[in-house]
Amino acid sequence: MKKRGKLLPVRIIGDKILRQVAKPVTEITDEIRQLIADLKITLYEKDGVGLAAPQVGRSLRIIISDPYWYRDNRKNPRVLINPKFLEFEGETTSEEGCLSIPRIFEKVIRAERVVIEALDENGELRQYSADGLFATSLQHEYDHLEGILFVDRVPKLKKVFLKRKIRELESTTDENGINLRNEKLN
Ligand code: NI
Repeated sequence: MKKRGKLLPVRIIGDKILRQVAKPVTEITDEIRQLIADLKITLYEKDGVGLAAPQVGRSLRIIISDPYWYRDNRKNPRVLINPKFLEFEGETTSEEGCLSIPRIFEKVIRAERVVIEALDENGELRQYSADGLFATSLQHEYDHLEGILFVDRVPKLKKVFLKRKIRELESTTDENGINLRNEKLN
């Protein structure tokens, strides 16, 4: 059954769920299908190119990526459940941003090409060979499943300059470790 998705609030840096290692999906239930539908709606509503389940407050190994939808004016979301990298090749540097770290963009070094294996939303095992923005996006989203944020991968010297901005974003974290900062400014 196709599920209708809804916009979910995105967790912001400082939120503890962004630092947890996400759990594998053991079965694609209706609840998981609903979460996937919600991730898609949230990705496009927020003008993102990728999104991971922990970013909407669910510590599960699900990512979605659609790096070219804005350029091509056509939506093609890839859903990857329990993803595993099989190959990394080369090196490339590109500027990254993250819906969980608003208004910060920095260059990050990633593998230029990757091969990744994951279940799709129908539970079929699929392999993707990715390069360019797709490869970068997959590595960025996969990091979210490990509790890693792209600012962790910025060179130390650059990070010194980011510290104040990051602290400011983290400052709205509540006593339960949840940061849903009102992002009307975006
Ligand atoms: Ni991100």
